Amino acid sequence: MKINVRRGDITEQKTAALIVTHFEDVVGLEGIAASLDQKCRGAIGDLIKSGDFDGKLCKSSLLHTRDLPTARILLIGLGKRVEFNIDKLREAYAKAAVILRDLNLRNIALAVELPDERWTLAETAEAIIEGVCLGLYQYTPFKTVERDKIKEIDELAVWVADKASFPDVNAAVERAEIVSSAVNYVRDLVSAPSNEMTPSDLAGEAEQIGRLKNVKLKVMEEAEMKELGMNSLLGVAKGSDEAAKFIILEYQGGKKAEPLIALVGKGITFDSGGISIKPAEKMEEMKSDMAGGAAVLGTIMAAAKLALPLNIVGLVPATENLPSGHAYKPGDILKSLSGQTIEVITTDAEGRLILADALTYAGKFKPEAIIDLATLTGACVIALGDYVMGMMGNNNKLKALVCEASARTGEKLWELPLWDDYHEQIKSDIADYRNSGGRAAGTITAAAFLSKFAGEFPWVHLDIAGPAWLSKDRPYAPKGASGAGVRLLIDLLRHWKAPFVAE
Ligand code: BES
Ligand code: MN
Ligand code: ZN
Repeated sequence: MKINVRRGDITEQKTAALIVTHFEDVVGLEGIAASLDQKCRGAIGDLIKSGDFDGKLCKSSLLHTRDLPTARILLIGLGKRVEFNIDKLREAYAKAAVILRDLNLRNIALAVELPDERWTLAETAEAIIEGVCLGLYQYTPFKTVERDKIKEIDELAVWVADKASFPDVNAAVERAEIVSSAVNYVRDLVSAPSNEMTPSDLAGEAEQIGRLKNVKLKVMEEAEMKELGMNSLLGVAKGSDEAAKFIILEYQGGKKAEPLIALVGKGITFDSGGISIKPAEKMEEMKSDMAGGAAVLGTIMAAAKLALPLNIVGLVPATENLPSGHAYKPGDILKSLSGQTIEVITTDAEGRLILADALTYAGKFKPEAIIDLATLTGACVIALGDYVMGMMGNNNKLKALVCEASARTGEKLWELPLWDDYHEQIKSDIADYRNSGGRAAGTITAAAFLSKFAGEFPWVHLDIAGPAWLSKDRPYAPKGASGAGVRLLIDLLRHWKAPFVAE
C-alpha cells in the first residue's frame, strides 16, 4: 500500500471511500463530518439520528454519496469522548481499513483531524497510520490456491487541511510507516514455519538488516561459542541438527564513545520441549518461540531507518529445542559463559538457558541498560492473560521508562515482583542454580534465574509469552503473530533518558 500525504480539503477529493470518525457521546457533527454532512444534505446526520450509527468504538456504517466527489463515506465510531485515548484511534482506523479492503476497494482516503487536545496532530496521524498498516496485515506466502482472491488496498491518501502542520504530519506518517513495517516484518518472521525459519534462516534475515546504514552484523558460529564457553546455549542446541547461531547486530547511531543499550531476544525457532517433551496439542504454535529474537531484529531495523541517535546492540541466541540421541537431558549440568553452573531440571525451560549466555555476553559491551524479550513461560499467560507482558527488572527508573512507553503504545504490561525470597526456588543442591523453580510463581523464578546473568547492569525482562501469539483477532492485530514488543521498544528508545542510577 502506498501512502500519500496531501494538503487540501478532503471534502473535495475524488476517492472510492473516505473514513470519517464520530464520538458516541457527542451530539451533532463536528469538523470534517459536519462539512461533509452539509454537502450531502444531512445524510450523515440522518444515519446518526436514526440510530443506525451510534459511534460506539469500532462500530461502522457505510454511506454511498451522490453529491460528493467521494463515492462512499465509512463512518467509524471512536466510543465515548470522555473515555478516549490514542490507542482507540489505532483500533478504529484499523477496523475501518479492513472493512474497506474486504469490500475490495483499492483507493481510500482519510483526513487527519484532532480528536482530542491531549495529543498533537502529528501524534494523531502517527496512531492512525499505525492502526491502518498494522490492521491490514495478512500472512499469505504459503497460499497458492485462489491467490487472486487476496484483497489489498493500493493507495491511502492522507489529507491535511492546515499548511503549517503539513511537515509535522508528513514526518509522523513516515515514522509510522517505518515502525509498522518493522512490526509486520516481525510478524512475517514469527509466522514462518520452523522448517522455513531455522536459526540459519533467522541469521540470513539479520544479514539484510546488517546492510542498513550504521548497522554491523556478526553471526557467531558454534565453534566460537564453544571456544568462549557458551555451554548453556550449546547445551540446548545439542539435540538439533540445525546449527545454532548467535546473532549480534550493532547499530551505531550515536558517537562511538557514547554508551550502548543491549537488546536481547529469545530465538528458539522451534520449542518441542526437548527430552522433557511438550504435549502435542498446540505444539505447532511453538514455531513462535523466537518472537523475542524477531522483535529485537525488527527494532534494530526500525532504529536504523529512523536514524535514532543511540548506540544499540541486538543479541539473538538462536537454536531449536528438540529431543534426539544427542540432546541434553534432565539432570545434566551446564557450565555457562558466566562460569556459573546450571542443573537442568527440565529441558523445556530452555529459553532461560540460551538467554543466560546471551545476557552474560551483553555484559561484555558494558551497556547502560539491558532489555530482554522472551516467550519465556506459560505461567505468564496464566498470570496475566493473552494480551499482557510480564515485566521484571532490577532498576526502578528503567522500569518506569518502559511503563511510559507501554502507555504510549498500548502494548500492555504489568510488573511482577522479583523479591529475594523467589531466588530460593532456583537454588540447586549440586550446582549453582536449577533451570526450573517449579510451578509456583513460574514467571518470576524464570526472571530470578535470568537476573543471575544480567549482573549489575540496569536490566528489564519482558515475558511476551501471552501477546506474541494471538489466538483471536484483535483490532489492529489479526490472530497469529502480533509483533509484540517492537512498538514498545522503539518508543522506549525514542524517549530514552539514561543514565540509570543503580537502586
Ligand atoms: N516457550 C515456552 C513458554 C511458552 C509457553 C510460550 C506457552 C508461549 C506459550 C518455554 O520454553 C517453556 O516451555 N516454559 C516452561 C517452563 C517450565 C518447564 C519451567 C513452561 O512455561 O511450562
Ligand atoms: Mn520450553
Ligand atoms: Zn521455549
